[in-house]
Order: sequence, then C-alpha cells, then structure tokens
Amino acid sequence: MSPAGATKRKPRTEIGDTAGRPALLLAWYDRHRRRLPWRALSGTRPDPYRVWLSEVMLQQTTVKAVGPYFEKFTARWPDVTSLAQASLDDVLRLWAGLGYYSRARNLHACAGAVMREHGGVFPDTEEGLLTLPGIGPYTAAAIAAIAFDRRTMPVDGNIERVVSRLFAVEKPLPQAKPLIRELATTLLGDSRAGDSAQALMDLGASICTPKKPACALCPLMEDCAARRRGTQESFPRKAAKKTGALRRGAAFVVSRGEELLVRTRPTKGLLGGMTEVPGSDWRADQDDKAARDQAPALKGVARWHRKAGVVTHVFTHFPLALVVYTADVPSGTHAPAGMRWVPIATLADEAFPNVMRKVIAHGLGI
Ligand code: ADE
Repeated sequence: MSPAGATKRKPRTEIGDTAGRPALLLAWYDRHRRRLPWRALSGTRPDPYRVWLSEVMLQQTTVKAVGPYFEKFTARWPDVTSLAQASLDDVLRLWAGLGYYSRARNLHACAGAVMREHGGVFPDTEEGLLTLPGIGPYTAAAIAAIAFDRRTMPVDGNIERVVSRLFAVEKPLPQAKPLIRELATTLLGDSRAGDSAQALMDLGASICTPKKPACALCPLMEDCAARRRGTQESFPRKAAKKTGALRRGAAFVVSRGEELLVRTRPTKGLLGGMTEVPGSDWRADQDDKAARDQAPALKGVARWHRKAGVVTHVFTHFPLALVVYTADVPSGTHAPAGMRWVPIATLADEAFPNVMRKVIAHGLGI
C-alpha cells in the first residue's frame, strides 16, 4: 500500500498504457461526437451508400464545405440505384463548386459498377471496395470500418497528427506513414472500428488541432508522449520540403463578348478534371516563343496582346510563372476542338483551380 492511501501510478513506457485507449476514445466519442449529416445515429446501422458518398465528397474537401452538397445529393438521389440512373451531366451540375471533378465522374461510374457488378450492394471488404472507381486505400478503409465495422483504421491528416503526438513519432512525414498506420491500429478495440476512426477524426478536428491543441480536454492526454514532453505542436515531424525548379508557360485569356474560352484538364494528373483557360505546357526550360506558339487555333480572328507582368503560383512540387496573352474575338467564332465558351457572369460556378482564377483576373483586369 502506498503512503497515506495515495494511488500508485503505474510506470509508463514511452508507448504508454495502450490497453485502455480504445475504450477511452469511444467513451469520449459517445459524448462529444460531431453531429454530421452522413453519420448514423448512435446505435443505428449506417447506410453504406451514405457512407460512401460522404467519404468521396470528403476526399480533399472540408467537412463544412461537404455538408450542403451531401444534403442536396441525398435529397435528389437517396440510394445507389437512383444515382446510377442519373445522367453524368446532372451529377456534375450538382457537384459544381465542390472541385476535383474527376471525383464526380468516378462517383457516377462507381454507382454504375455497384449496380452492374454487385447487384446494387456495396462490397463489404476493403479488397472488394478497392476494385471500384474512385475508391483508393484510404476511402476503402473508411467505408469498410464505418459502414461494415471491419477492423481497419483509415488514416487521414487528422489521425496522422493525433497518432504522431500520442506516440511522439520522430520519423518525419511522409516516410513515417507506414509506422503511423501501424500505431493507429492499436487504437482499435474489438468492435466499433468506424466509431474509433471517426473519434480520432473528431479529436484531430476539435482538440488535437495543428496549433494550440486543447490537451486539457483530450481523453488521451494522460498517455500522450508529446504532451508529456511539452512538444505536442512540433508533431507530426515533416521532412524539409524540396521545391522543384521554377516552371514557366503561357496562358491565353480569350473573350468573345461576355464569354470566355475554357477547356477541361485531363482527368489524371495535376489539377485533374478541373477547368482552365487554354495554355502552353509548363516547363523549367520553357522558351517564350515556344509557349506563345501553343496559342489556341483562332487564326485570323485572334490578335494577341501580352499583358504586362506574370502570374505566379506555388504548387506543392514547383513554383509556376505564367505570361498571359489576351484576345477578344468576334461573336460567332467557334471554339477550337476540345474547348468551349462559358459566360463570364457564371465563372464562379466553374471548377477553376486558384492558379486559373489568378490568370483570369489578370487577363480580364477584374
Ligand atoms: N473526413 C473523412 N471522413 C470523415 C468522417 N466520416 N467524419 C468526419 N470527417 C471525415
């Protein structure tokens, strides 16, 4: 017995007393979980269609932005059968503003595949889900855990942060990803894998935030290695970014009265499926004349003006500088192959990436 009845603290290893964590996490989730439109009420069975739809919408998009889109989609297409029967155009129209349009195309293709190849029933394993369009390893794990209670942990940015702090993972991202995934599975109990995952997502979003985490409110505080050292904000460790060489190119802002000439980027690759004004390739060894020669084929009607200055943008892997050329073409001018006219008044509804918003603002002087 310890003196004066004080309870003896168990000695902790760096990994801590891991056994109680899943239960602590779930108890916290039961009290504090966010009410989100795609979440089943506690004790009710989640609908795989709603789980899948929300997870696809949440790829690269915030919970706040997804809410109204999820409501619109489920009001119009309450199940996978109705979504599969919808036209791709209607799906893209309702998706407008959510960005990364390849997700909407894959969503529609996936609904079709579930109907054709799985009799309208979503596969209930990660492996089965992975065969479907638009479902990668993260989304397959999220759906398998949340919709089918498979014992797997999808690891997103929030979960990465929570886990890297809890275990004070010194290895930097992205090399630490496999280790973090492994450590994350220690937070799963025997059941309720989906709730454990969503508990970690909520913890990361509301308490274990990137800056000034509210550790005092955290159910795992006692056991958090980073917190014990007082270094929680320094996790996850990140490898110093290597930025690539500056790439250069030309962009062509062509107006036809109150319309603008645009095209859709290829589905695969950087900014896949998003809208852009026509432009040259982007190269480190770009030659200004070679870039200019990639202007859209509007021979005889376009008189190009080079705008002073350049538009710059920094992507994850490289910075970009674009020279902007403008032309105003007569009404009735046909859009070259693969391009289309869109009203300038509704540009906000198009899926332009930020770099294109800058180019258009520069080109049109707005
Ligand atoms: N991000 C991705 N999936 C999520 C979910 N199910 N709940 C909250 N945030 C998420």
